[in-house]
Amino acid sequence: MSSPIIQLQPVEQHQDLIITTPASGLSLQGTIKIPGDKSISHRSLMLGAISEGETIIHGLLLGEDPRSTASCFQAMGVEISELNSDRVTVKGNGLGNLLEPTEVLNAGNSGTTLRLMLGLLASHPDRFFTVTGDHSLCSRPMSRVVKPLQEMGAQIWGRKTNTLAPLAIQGQALKPIHYHSPIASAQVKSCILLAGLMTEGLTKVTEPALSRDHSERMLQAFGAKIDVDPATNSVSIMGHPTLKGQTVIVPGDISSAAFWMIAAAIVPDSNLLIENVGINPTRTGILEVMQAMGADITLENERIVTGEPVADLRVKHSHLKACTIEGDLIPRLIDEIPIIAVAATFAQGTTIIKDAAELRVKESDRLAVMASALNKMGANVTELPDGLEIIGGTGLTGTEVDSYTDHRIAMSLAIAALNAKHSTIIHRAEAAGISYPTFVSTLKQVCGE
Ligand code: S3P
Repeated sequence: MSSPIIQLQPVEQHQDLIITTPASGLSLQGTIKIPGDKSISHRSLMLGAISEGETIIHGLLLGEDPRSTASCFQAMGVEISELNSDRVTVKGNGLGNLLEPTEVLNAGNSGTTLRLMLGLLASHPDRFFTVTGDHSLCSRPMSRVVKPLQEMGAQIWGRKTNTLAPLAIQGQALKPIHYHSPIASAQVKSCILLAGLMTEGLTKVTEPALSRDHSERMLQAFGAKIDVDPATNSVSIMGHPTLKGQTVIVPGDISSAAFWMIAAAIVPDSNLLIENVGINPTRTGILEVMQAMGADITLENERIVTGEPVADLRVKHSHLKACTIEGDLIPRLIDEIPIIAVAATFAQGTTIIKDAAELRVKESDRLAVMASALNKMGANVTELPDGLEIIGGTGLTGTEVDSYTDHRIAMSLAIAALNAKHSTIIHRAEAAGISYPTFVSTLKQVCGE
């Protein structure tokens, strides 16, 4: 088998990832383990922090985003062991006992850290908090969580009439509401549920389509009284439960597995086994899309691990066909759309992605950035207001592209590069470390380097 040349090159404070494919003969082989689920990692740290006793987390994602969560809660007096091993412990302060930090809480690049944490901070009486993030996070909309929290009585100030970080929060006792969210967002839902923990009575959220339900599952496991009504996509939570620290085993992140699933599907003669992947049904839209595209993917060894379904995935190369992705499926694969766009450039026919305007307010405008990078590589992608139209089968040729410091863009373009002619240079590729610190070493492994 011929291997590509994969190099990381420092450029000022950033890193270029340079991938040069062999003229022929590349195939991806082997068994890989992917890092812990980012959503579950954030939640295990946060729920551990507000519970009584010790929470033990196995398989926590050691990426930059969960590190941001850990450092925010450490600044509020929570004891968290070093994030460098398979076993991280959190000594909880107990519900309502986060300390007022003397420093500004910095959520870095992480929307989940900032939005979920806001629910906890706003409901902590007599404490004052200030929160911020990096350049990307400070331009992402916070009104989606500020507005429902204000309806509960929260006091929050920030830039652009309290809609952008940095934000200041005067915590206080809140009143319960039934919030009808205009968007299917687990971050919005989770923020309100976390605010509901400290609020007298029943707090309820209804969303237009089901978003990931890790908060509901984990809150229940830690002792919260949660009621889920699948018929109306509603969840309610009763205030003032006793939360007890738990042992959490974090499954591998299907959003990280997705890069290898698509890589194996598009690179000829590939055969990868991806072990220990979380297959929570609110996250498996990617599996349904790959099946609709004709990918050769099988689930092995299905099991439940601390309340979350898990499986090993075997993916082999196949000839993909185009499909349409829209509606309620979107929240179930929201983070996989950049890598699905890569798959679509190799599928026969025209793939349409719509109802995905949310991608414009992620770590970057993922619709604009993916359309422009893939077109630069020779694809035929048209940007729609709420999606992408991709005419497949054009083939890709390596060139210079940029991650825009967005982890999922960096990794999607690296996978595109594996099936592109010549050399691709991905600028600011270190962004992958936000959710996948070992991405480049696994890339080398599957390529046989
Ligand atoms: C997340 C929810 C999703 C997702 C993000 C993580 C979470 O965002 O895009 O990467 O952990 O709750 P929205 O809920 O805003 O769609």
